Amino acid sequence: MTSNYPILSAEEAAELIENNHLVATSGFTPAGAVKAVPVALAKRAKKLHEAGEKFQIRLLTGASTGTSLDDQMADADAVSWRAPYQSSRSMRQKINAGKIDFVDMHLSHLPQSVLFGHFGVIDVAVIEATEVTADGKVFLSTSVGASPTFLKQAGKVIIELNRAQSRSIGDMADIVLPAPPPKRCALTLDHPLQRIGKSYVQIDPKKIVGIVETNQADEVGQFAPPDELSQNIAGFVVEFLRNELKAGRIPTEFLPLQSGVGNVANAVFEGIGASPDIPDFYMYSEVLQPGPFSLMRSGRLLGASSCGLTLLPEHMQQIADDADFYKDRIVLRPQEISNNPAIIRQLGVISLNTALEADIYGHVNSTHVVGQSVMNGIGGSGDFARNSYLSIFVCPSIAKGGKISTLVPMCSHVDHNEHSVNVLVTEQGLADLRGLAPGARAKRIIENCAHPMYRDYLHQYIANSKPGHINHDLKHCFDLHQRLIETGDMLG
Ligand code: COA
Repeated sequence: MTSNYPILSAEEAAELIENNHLVATSGFTPAGAVKAVPVALAKRAKKLHEAGEKFQIRLLTGASTGTSLDDQMADADAVSWRAPYQSSRSMRQKINAGKIDFVDMHLSHLPQSVLFGHFGVIDVAVIEATEVTADGKVFLSTSVGASPTFLKQAGKVIIELNRAQSRSIGDMADIVLPAPPPKRCALTLDHPLQRIGKSYVQIDPKKIVGIVETNQADEVGQFAPPDELSQNIAGFVVEFLRNELKAGRIPTEFLPLQSGVGNVANAVFEGIGASPDIPDFYMYSEVLQPGPFSLMRSGRLLGASSCGLTLLPEHMQQIADDADFYKDRIVLRPQEISNNPAIIRQLGVISLNTALEADIYGHVNSTHVVGQSVMNGIGGSGDFARNSYLSIFVCPSIAKGGKISTLVPMCSHVDHNEHSVNVLVTEQGLADLRGLAPGARAKRIIENCAHPMYRDYLHQYIANSKPGHINHDLKHCFDLHQRLIETGDMLG
């Protein structure tokens, strides 16, 4: 019951936010991102700018968000600082133009950084919920993200109560807020679906300064059906997993899977779903997107632990229509638990993430084109890659119509070093790097993964190095990237 709280319009709520406030919002992908207050805030910013007044906020979220938040706020020049991840074209352009300071960080680190005040005090938290009780119990919507920490730490709380989100989603949450170190205890989470917390966040109701009622679906874009390239990559991944099972390097009951967002991930899940040699499996991931979700109904995906539901309205309707089926199969966790290094290691997660580029020694760049322009951010890829049982990275072998090889002599920016990358896959093939010294890794990556038109170039590069060792001559790295700069193919 919400009657104790003032009901505000989005515009009234936006008036409570001041210039330079640190504002923390819900949203982990467009799932559960606030949708009304940011639009009103963007309008307010534009109006104030026209009147010659300064108005920009510092914006914290769980991860990326929807168009109403990142795009509209960036378009209105309403953000001066942003963390920890974004995937909005407008926001990216402003960051790369030096107009927004962007702090790219591991998503599992965010709640603790907030708790210890690394970014200052949160002035206002704006959080989407499916229900708020008079005594301050907040039931979150389609993502948990960092919202529990934001709710606890913020001076003021505005709730967007979204009637379009099924109330049953709130019950999928399993919220636990670990105590700060040195009193942080080990988490007893021995199974992806184990519940160790509560389905709501308890806060002081006096902090809730208003409720904004909304009725809007999450702004999750359509997913393109897997193309030939994604299907080829997926084929190599599935074949590899089958062989690992046969060789006994993956136990017969299989291991939980993590996957990043995107086409290749969807194609891999389609491939696994269709492969009778791979047993029914669980996910321990930070996102649940349509590909794996569709395997839940058929029983191939036994259950998923996630931080949010990056699903389309038709999937959300399925969940609303059959809440009993899904509530036993989906657990939504805060990002410090969904991406928790100890749990990922303990469960033996197999991680699958996409690289922007990789070098012939196995270092991976997930974030910075030519080492300069940020794409989205590291997201959860580092949390999983570093701690998984088996860390797989995928990418096409070429980008920009072949003007550039994604396999380079030396990455222009490193997010995941050679020690966190076990397997690299492109549409050309798969390179299993386990147990290989640097020189052997380079040969295998070039032969198995590089596009044929770049192989000679890359071989020439290792011919100049001491046998078996890494060649640190960075000049070669820039030769390739120079083409992008010359042809104007750099990201905005
Ligand atoms: N050099 C220059 N540009 C490159 C490139 C390279 N090596 N590789 C890709 N690009 C360009 C593409 O041409 C495309 O440009 P465009 O938008 O102008 O067409 C753009 O970068 C995106 O490439 P695309 O292949 O469509 O990327 P994607 O949607 O598969 O995403 C990442 C790839 C790496 C950007 C994305 O997976 C990411 O942000 N990862 C980091 C976060 C993460 O891994 N999270 C996982 C846990 S959810």
